[in-house]
Amino acid sequence: MAKKQLAQEYYKAPPYDVILEPAKLAGRWHESFGRVAPLHVEVGIGLGHHLVQHALIHPDQNHLGLDLKMHRIYTARHKALRQGARFVRFVPGDADEALAAAFADGEVDRMTLLFPDPWPDNRDAPKRLTHPDRVARYRRLLHAGGVFHFRTDDEPLYMYSRDVFLAHGFALVEAVELERTTTDFEARWLLAGRAIFGFDAVRLG
Ligand SMILES: C[S@@+](CC[C@H](N)C(=O)[O-])C[C@H]1O[C@@H](n2cnc3c(N)ncnc32)[C@H](O)[C@@H]1O
Repeated sequence: MAKKQLAQEYYKAPPYDVILEPAKLAGRWHESFGRVAPLHVEVGIGLGHHLVQHALIHPDQNHLGLDLKMHRIYTARHKALRQGARFVRFVPGDADEALAAAFADGEVDRMTLLFPDPWPDNRDAPKRLTHPDRVARYRRLLHAGGVFHFRTDDEPLYMYSRDVFLAHGFALVEAVELERTTTDFEARWLLAGRAIFGFDAVRLG
């Protein structure tokens, strides 16, 4: 079936793990997973390579993948099913909308953002997924001690993001997962010999 047609089918009758109305689960995501466990949310999963690897390494966590594009969601979902990653759910659509409405304050234990578009022109700064307004929201969703994991191949975006997190109630520590998992984009950059920058930002109390 063509990708576009398959995506339309998903909107008509989403499988149990593709959540079209995430706001209904705010404060009770554990019900969707059928168990109480730490909640990991990845924003902009692309084809889901990292989300699936992370879910396989951390079967003790509940994993939620967000992406704008339904066809990427279903590619990622097939990957999770094929590789046997359990406790993974997906939310298609604009992450801004989901993050604004679909979680109680402090409900999230870990967030991941990998290789987002850098939007290098300063006039486009509001579109960056590490813009101060969004980082303030990430802080609200994470509980104290929760970790935001960030990676990019774009050094100016790395420096910008680092400063925004530091100014919004996070402390930075070296990212422990930098070497353990890769993303689809990262694999290309590593082959091309490009440097990868990243950090773990811990939400202060
Ligand atoms: C450059 S790709 C990186 C994908 C993946 N993280 C990786 O490293 O392979 C950026 C991804 O973020 C998604 N994205 C961009 N803006 C988004 C938004 N506002 N809400 C949800 N997903 C978004 C895009 O659809 C795309 O899949």
